[in-house]
Amino acid sequence: MPDIPFSIDLAFPTCIPHKYDRHLERRLSSMEGMFLDTQAFKELQSKGDSLMYEVYEIHRPEIPGELLSGISIVHPGKVGNEFFMTKGHFHSVLETAEIYYCLKGEGVMIMENPEGDTSIEPLVPGKILYVPPRWAHRSVCTGRQNDLVTFFIYPGNAGHDYGTIIKRGFRKLIVDSTDGYKSIDNPNWKTG
Ligand code: F6R
Ligand code: ZN
Repeated sequence: MPDIPFSIDLAFPTCIPHKYDRHLERRLSSMEGMFLDTQAFKELQSKGDSLMYEVYEIHRPEIPGELLSGISIVHPGKVGNEFFMTKGHFHSVLETAEIYYCLKGEGVMIMENPEGDTSIEPLVPGKILYVPPRWAHRSVCTGRQNDLVTFFIYPGNAGHDYGTIIKRGFRKLIVDSTDGYKSIDNPNWKTG
């Protein structure tokens, strides 16, 4: 059967799509080793397996020419001084970009490329963020009480490389500060 155009409504105020193909839940336990303060991680884990972020995927074939999209919701919270965040990844096909549109909340996107450039872009409602090809990306919720909600869209053939980030981490971390948040160098960042 040939494809036909479709549209999807978002439920307000949650921004959860009325129709989606997959709902992913990422909890604290799936993020071991990703936060700097391992003691704080253990302490938080002893209180339960906090829900850190969720993704509602609108699926399409994972082939060139298609676009994959969905809604990402990062919940507020901290592990030690570090805000809740996504795992973050490079695209397996490095030369593929992504666009994020912020619908709700406050946060930042941490980005870096294999050449060692880094970038931290604020996410506030109405902001469109372009993640160029080659840049790993991780969203961070810096709001104290509200979810960070973004719409994302990227090429069907992009794929996800989580392994590089699991091994090395991101060069920059986002931590709490009197000004809201600040970025610091990741002392655990590994080369190679
Ligand atoms: C897809 C993409 C987003 C993220 C989502 C969750 O390429 O960047 O859909 O997948 O924000 O983050 P990760 O995938 O890093 O767990
Ligand atoms: Zn991506």
